[in-house]
Amino acid sequence: MISQKMADRINLQINREMFSAYLYLAMAAKMTNLGYTGIARWLTVQYHEEMFHAMKFVRYLEDQAAEVKFDAIAVPAFKENDPKSLFQHVLEHERWVTASIREIMELAMAEKDFATQNLVQWYIDEQVEEEKNAMDILQTIDLLGNTPQGLFMLNIELGKREPSIPLDYTKI
Ligand code: FEO
Repeated sequence: MISQKMADRINLQINREMFSAYLYLAMAAKMTNLGYTGIARWLTVQYHEEMFHAMKFVRYLEDQAAEVKFDAIAVPAFKENDPKSLFQHVLEHERWVTASIREIMELAMAEKDFATQNLVQWYIDEQVEEEKNAMDILQTIDLLGNTPQGLFMLNIELGKREPSIPLDYTKI
């Protein structure tokens, strides 16, 4: 059993994770338009990762017999149309998600909600990985001099990304 306040906060996070998925899907479409199909693949895999994050919270609410509420998902607005500035946006977005996850942990600690603390620790660890992924790509872009040739190579490399999570959400 979790508090109503916690259920509401987790429902908000489900919305934020789905917004993240929507944002990365929109970014993938933009990169495809620009010919960066490998980067688009990386972003599409990231879309699936975000849906996994959302669905993991959904399952948790269900397991706790709390109501799942799906709210409207915001328009994924972004202006970037080159890989470097796009991944800077990705990094900023992930830092925002990290702060949001920390809020849930702070609430769980204040409420002595040990089950939610245990769950959210997974997301805390995941956010270290999420930020690192974006920082690594930005570092690679800088090492390659942010040149057309370098971005061409990066595009090939990122196109090799495979999902590391189950795509069948009934298995979460
Ligand atoms: Fe669900 Fe990229 O954080």
